[in-house]
Amino acid sequence: MLVLGIETSCDETAAAVVSGDKRILSNCVLSQLADHTPYGGVVPEIAARAHIQQLDHIVSQAMLEAQVNYNDLAAVAVTGGPGLIGGVMVGLMMAKAIASYHQKPLLAVNHLEAHALTARLTSDMDYPFLLLLVSGGHCLLLSVEAYGKYNKLGSTKDDALGEAFDKVAKMIGLPYPGGPQVEKLAQTGNPYAYALPKPLVGTEGCDFSFSGLKTAVSRLVGSLKPLNDQKRADICASFQFTVSQILHDRVGQAMQLHERRFIPRQLVVAGGVAANQYLKAQLQELCSSRAYTLIVPPPALCTDNAAMIAWAGVERLLHKAPADDLFFQARARWPLS
Ligand code: KG4
Ligand code: ZN
Repeated sequence: MLVLGIETSCDETAAAVVSGDKRILSNCVLSQLADHTPYGGVVPEIAARAHIQQLDHIVSQAMLEAQVNYNDLAAVAVTGGPGLIGGVMVGLMMAKAIASYHQKPLLAVNHLEAHALTARLTSDMDYPFLLLLVSGGHCLLLSVEAYGKYNKLGSTKDDALGEAFDKVAKMIGLPYPGGPQVEKLAQTGNPYAYALPKPLVGTEGCDFSFSGLKTAVSRLVGSLKPLNDQKRADICASFQFTVSQILHDRVGQAMQLHERRFIPRQLVVAGGVAANQYLKAQLQELCSSRAYTLIVPPPALCTDNAAMIAWAGVERLLHKAPADDLFFQARARWPLS
């Protein structure tokens, strides 16, 4: 069972071919980073135009690398949302054209669901599991009961975690996307240099809030100016340490709720921020203390890619869930639960 996946919901133009037995035959990702860097963030119009220019080529490359013919495909999977609407439309239009010409089922995939299911592509694991989904646009805790059954336990009241990383990076003059840069700089900093607030920690439930933390970093930066390399590193380390404590508390609460209903103790971390090795190590400690198995896909499959879209398509076929028709409309919003 071979599925072509297409991803264009943000600033990566991506195509991949994945098999039903979890082989990634190709995984082509073209980052538009250079196009957006001068603006300090993703510009939707520029992203959509870049997808139009590159997608043809990326899809051909993915098919060529996988050595697969369109006739061999079981289906064409594509991000149907949520995301920047112009980009989602470009990917959908391409997928519809391929599906219709080659008479293959069209599978419009929820981008968040694809992040959520990636761990099942990269590890041998079954449902149910607890999911922490942390990306540039989302910050969610869910009990994934079975395919298509997502119970939301908590979400952010303001910024997504990746967004908070990106904003802190911007405050201290690091380029977009800030997450990887903050992680790198934090390695040479002192995590205890500055005490920062931990919004909602110690309260009931599993919701997140990062705006107070972000404002505190902004004030701190103002008070420390002019910044030098050591101050920047200390800010990054203190911010990242604070985030790890917030995650420890919120995920700990979610574990309690999850355990009331489900027996297997598995925590999956997905989305771009899951690429952060410091946070992964901290979550590993939490998991070890609570007898959970921690499952984090490799960094290249945590950030946006099309292998995860293709795999979400495979799961749809394996679970015999219906395909979409060619009238499927791109969705800017598409809640998972
Ligand atoms: O999942 P993703 O590629 O795109 C979205 O769907 O949002 O996530 C991108 C986000 C960005 O905010 C980026 O700064 C963050 O993930 N990110 C990281 C790291 N790598 C990517 N955040 C912290 N540490 C990292 N190593
Ligand atoms: Zn994503």
